[in-house]
Amino acid sequence: QKGGFAHYMLKEIFEQPDAIHRAVHAVSEETLPSSLRQASSITVVACGSSYHAGMIFRYLIEPVCGIPVRLELGSEYKYTPVPFSDVIIGISQSGETADTLSAIRKGICNNVKTVAITNVLNSSITRSAHDTILMHAGPEISVAASKSFIAQVGVLMQIVNILSGGRCHDILDHARYALEQVLLTDLTEAVDLCSKAQHLFYVGRGVFYPVMMEGALKMKEISYIHAEAYAAGELKHGPFALLSPDTPVIAICTPGPAYEVMLGNMKEMKARGTPIVAFGNEDDGDVSDIADVVIPLPKAHMWTQVLTSTVLLQLLAYHTANRLGREIDMPRNLAKSVTVE
Ligand code: M6R
Repeated sequence: QKGGFAHYMLKEIFEQPDAIHRAVHAVSEETLPSSLRQASSITVVACGSSYHAGMIFRYLIEPVCGIPVRLELGSEYKYTPVPFSDVIIGISQSGETADTLSAIRKGICNNVKTVAITNVLNSSITRSAHDTILMHAGPEISVAASKSFIAQVGVLMQIVNILSGGRCHDILDHARYALEQVLLTDLTEAVDLCSKAQHLFYVGRGVFYPVMMEGALKMKEISYIHAEAYAAGELKHGPFALLSPDTPVIAICTPGPAYEVMLGNMKEMKARGTPIVAFGNEDDGDVSDIADVVIPLPKAHMWTQVLTSTVLLQLLAYHTANRLGREIDMPRNLAKSVTVE
């Protein structure tokens, strides 16, 4: 059943090139719910990894389509005032998360159109929302979301692509190949560092901030190492006090608007003796001069690097947890779907 892989999670990570391909084709110009086509503002509600997918969506859609996105945790949405967006998207791979379901129902009670993005046909969310987009990731057994997360991001990227008149088509066409390229990346040095740590910090800017939030969640969920993500600019507002030679930082620094300032941030961390594992473009001498370990990302468009860095962060968490002998597919205290508030 595990297809020769040691764990379901590793199998599911390796299924991601196919999963992203199916997810991108799960919605088209013709099948996009009309509520989304007409929306001038969107609220996204989700929990855990699905929330991170929603946050990536916000960073991608706002500059390309100019549509403002309000993002809410499912568990907090009930405490917010009446929804004021044109449409609510509830993202839930299981389709059973109680808090996300109640957000959809709250939208319906307030006459707001609702769209569910889920992996499970006939799940509760599909029966509640006005429209459903199935992401077609295939069954996911491991408690930790991997291919369902990448499929959520694939569907959301395709929504941005459709709403922008196909501006991102080539990037999405290339996504399957891009993921295949990174699956066999050697992460030994990074795993050596992470598996000895008790605390890890994950930092990024812009769309790479939610990518790092997802990386940190994956690490804490399956390795039990305390891993926190910060927007890199927030470090100086408190977390910097925690940096030491015993607290490695995982950073991402790729060409783009945040590049120079991220290089500066990494130098400041380095000055505190903090070991740095940096995701950077292959052959980027400026990144490798600062970082203790470089995880190379193939040069590509920022959207593609969102996908490739996500996969590498999953693999970093997986191999670290494996090194520590953790129960990877069934982490302690966690369940695949959370059906109580
Ligand atoms: O089924 P959902 O997408 O609604 O689940 C939400 C979270 O419980 C889920 O993403 C959780 O954070 C994952 N186990 C993370 O890997």
